[in-house]
Amino acid sequence: MPFGQFVSLVDMLVERYYPALKLDMPEGQAKLLLLKLSNLLLSKYECVHKHTTLISHPFSLIVDPANGCSLHCPACVHTSSGNRKNFIWPGGFLEEDLFLAFLDEYGPYGFDLYFANYGEPLLNKLTPRFIQMARRFALPTFSSTSLSLKTINFEGLVLSGLPFLILSVDGATSATYLQYRRNGDFALVIDNIRKLVAAKARMNSYTPVLHWQFLVFEHNVHEVKEVKELAATMGVNQLSLITPYPVAWDEPTISITKDWPTETLLFHCDMDAYKAALDRMLIDLDNEVINRHFLRKWSDRIKPRRETGDEAEVMAVKSLAQPQSTREMKTNASGWAETGGNAATGFIRTLRWTQPAGSCHALGRRPST
Ligand SMILES: C[S@@+](CC[C@H](N)C(=O)[O-])C[C@H]1O[C@@H](n2cnc3c(N)ncnc32)[C@H](O)[C@@H]1O
Ligand code: SF4
Repeated sequence: MPFGQFVSLVDMLVERYYPALKLDMPEGQAKLLLLKLSNLLLSKYECVHKHTTLISHPFSLIVDPANGCSLHCPACVHTSSGNRKNFIWPGGFLEEDLFLAFLDEYGPYGFDLYFANYGEPLLNKLTPRFIQMARRFALPTFSSTSLSLKTINFEGLVLSGLPFLILSVDGATSATYLQYRRNGDFALVIDNIRKLVAAKARMNSYTPVLHWQFLVFEHNVHEVKEVKELAATMGVNQLSLITPYPVAWDEPTISITKDWPTETLLFHCDMDAYKAALDRMLIDLDNEVINRHFLRKWSDRIKPRRETGDEAEVMAVKSLAQPQSTREMKTNASGWAETGGNAATGFIRTLRWTQPAGSCHALGRRPST
């Protein structure tokens, strides 16, 4: 089906289902649901047909609230090896006005938002606030932290409504932990886990689900049994033992354990409580912004290519206000499609799955054209 026809069909579906949906749910929720679903349909079309200019928006978002980190894990941009000089990664914190502009632009179309990339998200004092702001578009958020920080706003984190938090702890003893999480503090991390668990209990909150992630290497595989016992007694919800990506190119003494079977242990799981926490996001919707997006038909967002008149190739209509730092779509060295970031003020990236088949990890490469 030609693109123009497909887009009209999507508009028609939205128009037809909106009256029915708003009988079952508040108008804002109905609009948001249709925005997300119609964007997904268009995204799939543009992916399958290998469009290089897009009218659909990224449906999986990544935002790094802080670029810096005081740890020096191998192969990370913060490594302490000689390779560090190859990474141009100035520190900085994401500011609220930039995040707000990003959220107003992309939030209504997103299905999730990951608050981390190559920095320590909890270094930014505003991170709990950013998580809370994402609720305006019912975006389930998740993040990953080393927890090796002296100051953490535990209550703020729980109150933010963050659904899921990965705790990066690859050891059951300090000596082993420090081989990978260089410059970390194992005792501090364990203490912070306890404080986070206590804050959740105090506030009677099931979320954030605490997911202890243990990367299994040759140097820590002997502590797998111990970490299972430790995690089980500490009140975290889950523990996963996973095969990391190799880092020997940066630190030859660290090698991965080949053929390690990924394993996830569930300690305290309550799907009903989790669903209830996600449902609570629906009460904080920003109906004004949602409505602004909803009023723009998809067919008004395309312009046929003038030279060929080929409707399958479209040009994105940039009518929504975008901050300069997130404006350009470009492809980085490894082929990821990304909208640019501003490393000095925190890093924003939006990535789009552009392959027809893929994992549920919704990051994507641009099609080869
Ligand atoms: C670059 S970190 C940034 C977030 C935070 N600083 C942390 O470490 O959790 C993003 C994720 O990459 C994970 N990671 C680090 N080294 C890895 C490796 N060799 N293989 C797979 N994941 C790794 C971290 O544990 C974390 O979950
Ligand atoms: S804690 Fe995370 S961001 Fe920091 S050096 Fe390690 S992997 Fe990189």
